[in-house]
Amino acid sequence: MAAPRGEFTSRFGFLMAASGSAVGLGNIWGFPTNTASNGGAAFLIAYLVLTFALAYPALMAELIIGRHARSNAVAALKAIAPGRPSRLLAVFIGLMGILTVSFILSFYAIVSGWMIAFFFDPIARLLGMEGLAQWLVQDTAMRNSIFVIVFMLLTIFIISAGVKDGIEKWSSRLMPSLILILLLLILYVFTLPGAMDGLRAYLIPDFSRITDPQLLVDAMGQAFFSLSLGVGTMLVYGSYISKDENLPVVGSLVALLDVGIAVLAGLLILPAMYVALANGVEIFDASGGLIAGPGLIVSVLPALFNNMGAVGILVAAAFFVLMTIASLTSSISMLEVPVAYSVENHGAGRRTAALAIGSIITLISLLIVFNFDPLFDLVVNFTTERSQPLLSLFICIFVAWIWRRNDILEEIKQGCPQAEAGLFWKIWPFYVKFICPVAILVVYFQ
Ligand code: PFF
Repeated sequence: MAAPRGEFTSRFGFLMAASGSAVGLGNIWGFPTNTASNGGAAFLIAYLVLTFALAYPALMAELIIGRHARSNAVAALKAIAPGRPSRLLAVFIGLMGILTVSFILSFYAIVSGWMIAFFFDPIARLLGMEGLAQWLVQDTAMRNSIFVIVFMLLTIFIISAGVKDGIEKWSSRLMPSLILILLLLILYVFTLPGAMDGLRAYLIPDFSRITDPQLLVDAMGQAFFSLSLGVGTMLVYGSYISKDENLPVVGSLVALLDVGIAVLAGLLILPAMYVALANGVEIFDASGGLIAGPGLIVSVLPALFNNMGAVGILVAAAFFVLMTIASLTSSISMLEVPVAYSVENHGAGRRTAALAIGSIITLISLLIVFNFDPLFDLVVNFTTERSQPLLSLFICIFVAWIWRRNDILEEIKQGCPQAEAGLFWKIWPFYVKFICPVAILVVYFQ
């Protein structure tokens, strides 16, 4: 007999888990650098509008399907499909989501491994272990392999413990710590010379950019990646929400937390870059834009921390703990997608499934580590730019065009009896039916 399904025990637990999935490297690294290279607050405004106009409706689609079917992505989509062709499509979308999320995790674990290595660097220096510190910050296949394995073991450990004792417990501990560390770092960086220039670069909009197609494409990609959409993560988390919960409200709280933390991360990263500039660190690349890729996190910011003297050790450790926490609460949501499927559809034990699937993903990560140059960008681009938006599109189509409208309303009404008269029900069905699919397609073909 299959083990009983897990459920989040409180609204707080769900909010921490779902916002933990949403808040990750995409917020603390991707969002500020996208903002810097796309006209400052012009990007911020486009991102806010697209998050609430497009990504939030798609998030709601996943949460509603998940809670209705109370099962993993494949079974849930199948459960709402009325006929054989749509059931086949459901299985295809669900399996593609599982595959995509597993590949996302395989590159995410590599970058997260760097974050752990950079966390140990200041500690090694504090202990006078200069040789070790040097090794930790050098980009070698050996270091990357070791820290991918460490990161994946942490992820497997949490997922093995289940929904309540793993995902909910750890997200509820880690997310408040993340917010606290982020706020403390912002306060500290604001006291340093140069910070206000960064704030200006972040918050003064260059409105001439707001209609730039590239800005809109980036803002939309950022919104979908950041809310973990398309690959079944939010669908599976939705399947663990209590039937008494008001879905439109919890969905908007998740979106608010996600954008709120991205905006806060901008208040840290851009001022920190300009503080680095004031300290003589190069922050612009050859084309005159702000350094945005891995160079930002693994060279600009560490150079700044090194310039800060003793306090830099503490700040560096705090910053990389922040990054590691952000990664971990996202990676657990990724591993949960294939694990829930194996447990529910194939009768596997949770621990066995977490270990087996986690190990396969680790092997893929190692393959990427040892063939970094062709593989890393390929996997990132294929999963986040090709697969994720298309799967989101299919999920919107599934909800709006294939699932019965009455069933959707009944599901929402469970935790929100007045839903039919509310604003959400007046706007959302139209959005997922027409606006989201068209907008995703437009951006996709950009
Ligand atoms: N939302 C995460 C971030 O912003 O870093 C990334 C992510 C998590 C993508 C979970 C996909 C996913 F299923």
